[in-house]
Amino acid sequence: MNTHPRLEIDGLIAELMTLAQISEAEPPIVTRVVFGEADRRARAYLKGLCAAAGLTVREDAVGNTFARWQGSDAELAPVGTGSHIDAIPNAGLYDGCVGVLGGLEAIRVLQHLGFKPRRSIELVIFTAEEPTRFGIGCLGSRMMANVLTPSQALALRDKEGRGLEELRTQAGFAGTLESVALPLGRFHQFIELHIEQGPLLEQEGIDLGLVTHIAAPASVRVVIEGEGGHAGARLMPGRKDALAAAAELILALETAARSTGAIDTVATVGVCEVFPGAVNSIPSRVRLETDIRDIDGARRDCVIDALHAACGEVSGRRGVAIAEELVNADPPATCDAEILAALEASAVEAGKSYKKMVSRAYHDSLFMARIAPVAMLFIPCRGGVSHRPDEYARPEWIGSGVHVLARTLAGLAA
Ligand code: GLV
Ligand code: MN
Ligand code: MN
Repeated sequence: MNTHPRLEIDGLIAELMTLAQISEAEPPIVTRVVFGEADRRARAYLKGLCAAAGLTVREDAVGNTFARWQGSDAELAPVGTGSHIDAIPNAGLYDGCVGVLGGLEAIRVLQHLGFKPRRSIELVIFTAEEPTRFGIGCLGSRMMANVLTPSQALALRDKEGRGLEELRTQAGFAGTLESVALPLGRFHQFIELHIEQGPLLEQEGIDLGLVTHIAAPASVRVVIEGEGGHAGARLMPGRKDALAAAAELILALETAARSTGAIDTVATVGVCEVFPGAVNSIPSRVRLETDIRDIDGARRDCVIDALHAACGEVSGRRGVAIAEELVNADPPATCDAEILAALEASAVEAGKSYKKMVSRAYHDSLFMARIAPVAMLFIPCRGGVSHRPDEYARPEWIGSGVHVLARTLAGLAA
C-alpha cells in the first residue's frame, strides 16, 4: 500500500469501527441523531482521542467541537480540518467520520514526524450536519457562519416538539447562541476530507477527488390538510384525501427535476408523514419533506417554483389546503484555488491520482466557505453507495486521503 509510513491505518480503521458501534441501531447499522444518547457517547469518545493526542478541546454553545494543535505563532489564525459524526437513520460508518478521524490521524502523523506547525491546526467536529432532528442540514456550521441566526435556531423543533434550547442544554452545552457565530478570519483556511458518496472515483480508478464546487441544496416542507373519515363508509366523490394529493405533488416534483434537461438537478421526497396513519382511515394530514439540489442555484429554484405551482393546482382541484415552508435554499459554494493547488501538489508528491469534481452532496464546507477559504478532498466509496449501512471505503482509499490531507495541512500550517 503506497501510503504514508507514519500513518497508522489499522489504528484509524479500528477507531472508525469503534465509533460505528456507538449507534442507536443494531450494528452494522449506524444511526446517531444529534443530541441523542449515541451522539453524546460518540462525542465523548472523540474528545478522549483528541485529548490523548495532546489537542486542546473546546466546545461551543451548540456542541461544535474544536480540537487545537497549538502552533508556534499563537497570533496566526489556524488551518482547520474536520467534518461531522452524526449519522442519518440507517446509515453507514464512513460519511463524516472519515473526515473527523482522518483529520485527527493526519494531525497525529505530523506529530509523529516531529513537525512543528507555525499556524495551529484545528480539528472541527460539526454539530448536526445531517438534518434528521430539526429538518435542516449543517446546523452547527450554518450557525458558525451566522446563516442561521440564534432566533431562527431557537424556533427549530424536532418531531416531538422539542427545541434546540432544551436539547442542547440537556446534552450539556451552555453559553449564548450568539457566541456560536465566527468572524471572517477565525480560520485561515479549511479542508474537509469526505467519501465521494458517488461512483465516479471508483469507476475511473482515481485515488482522490479535488472538489471545486459544492451543489446548492434546498428543502421545502409541505403540509397538506384534507378531510379524514371512515375508509369504508365515506364514498369516493367529494373525498379530500391528503395522501392522494401528496402523491400528485411527489410525482410533480419528480417530473420537474427530470425536465430541467440537466443531470445535475435532483429532487427527493424522503419524509412522508401520514395522519392518523390507520389503514381504515382516510388520511387527513400529510407532511412532506423535500430535498431539491443543483449545481446551478437558479435552475434549482425553477424546480421549487414548479413545486409551488403544483401545490396551487392540486389544492384548487382537490379542495385541500396546502402550506409550503421554505426550510432552506442555500447557494452553491466555490472552493478556494490556493487550497486546491496545495492539495494538487500534495497529491502529486504522494504519487496519488486525482481529478477535479463537484460535490453533489452538501457538507459543512458549504457554510465554512462563507467565513473562510475552503476546499474538499474526496476519496472513493464502493459503488457510490452512501446513506446506507453498506457504505464502504477501502483502508487504502482512506489512507490516501489522510496522507494527502496531512501533507497539505503541513504545507498550509508551516
Ligand atoms: C449530506 O448528508 C447530504 O445530504 O448531502
Ligand atoms: Mn450524510
Ligand atoms: Mn457527510
